[in-house]
Amino acid sequence: MTLILGIETSCDETAAAVVQDGWLVRSNIIATQHRLHEQYGGVVPEIASRAHLERISPVIQQALKQADRTLDQLDAIAVGNRPGLIGSLLIGVGAAKTLAWSTGKPLIGVDHVLAHLYAPALINAWDVNESANPAPNPIQYPAIGLVVSGGHTSLYELVSPTEITRLGRTIDDAVGEAYDKAAVILNLGYPGGPNLDRLAQQGDPSAYDLPRSMLSKQSLDFSFSGLKTALLYAVRGLPKRHNDRIVFERSADDLTEAQRTNLAAAFQQAAIDALMIKLHRGLDRMTELGRPTQSLIVGGGVSANSLLRRRAKEMKNTVTVRLANVVYCLDNAAMIAGLAHHCFVAGQFDDLDLPALATSRC
Ligand code: KG4
Ligand code: ZN
Repeated sequence: MTLILGIETSCDETAAAVVQDGWLVRSNIIATQHRLHEQYGGVVPEIASRAHLERISPVIQQALKQADRTLDQLDAIAVGNRPGLIGSLLIGVGAAKTLAWSTGKPLIGVDHVLAHLYAPALINAWDVNESANPAPNPIQYPAIGLVVSGGHTSLYELVSPTEITRLGRTIDDAVGEAYDKAAVILNLGYPGGPNLDRLAQQGDPSAYDLPRSMLSKQSLDFSFSGLKTALLYAVRGLPKRHNDRIVFERSADDLTEAQRTNLAAAFQQAAIDALMIKLHRGLDRMTELGRPTQSLIVGGGVSANSLLRRRAKEMKNTVTVRLANVVYCLDNAAMIAGLAHHCFVAGQFDDLDLPALATSRC
């Protein structure tokens, strides 16, 4: 049995979790900073790292308490050390190193993007009857994995939880970033993605025709900046030059509630269509290459999206669809601790000079 403490501070959630054997979540604590960033309409890196510093110790203590475990009982300390905001990552990495050094436990650095693709394997200890020997539900490989978050939109082939090859990625905005900007264009407030998703469910997507960027016929890359601009023009009209300034015909305040709701629905439909088309293409590509896929994994914040979840589940006749519990779609430390189990078993540990890095290795 392994018991691993995971720490996650890559963006604006301070999180710690204890996970047993890579799948049974014994505790999952997430302190969100949404209130602190709301007034700025997005994450302010300096505010985020200060808030992590204030919260990291209580969050780790709470994770151990909820798991009813002490530091001595842990087998390793894992931390998401890439990618993310450097000032934020450094707080988690510093805390993990301190704990590893002071307890003599191994340190394991985990790539946040890879951890998002592991999240569907997690099961809450409080949702199962432990006396009945609950079984894990491991992801079957080879798998195709789509990471859709605020910073990433990439498609991968995975042959194990830690062996990954990228098949395609966004050439401009990440889909979560496009959702957040679309929410600003529609005056929906922060956090944009969930607000837009909620509104879109009440609208008629066919009321507006927004583009689905496919790039070339074979491409597995993504592009969302055209969709974002098309939404901007649909809301505000075409831009015109007036006295050396660019002005729009109208503002989002001029929209009726029905127009705003239908625009949200049309944006959602176009964004999710683009993801689904590439997912199908990716599966077809694997079949053509003679590498048939056992599972389809969707991870990252946008995998909490209602339409994406519905459309992905509809693929269940072709492939086993693995979506995380909504709590584990968003940033959390259980996915870090869960994935670290596989590094632990393989004897892959890090030294105390583990760096915090802005970019993913994946
Ligand atoms: O994975 P995540 O929590 O953080 C990053 O690693 O970026 O993803 C956050 C992103 C944000 O852009 C947020 O707006 C988006 O996920 N998001 C959603 C939904 N919930 C979160 N986008 C669309 N629909 C949602 N329901
Ligand atoms: Zn994330």
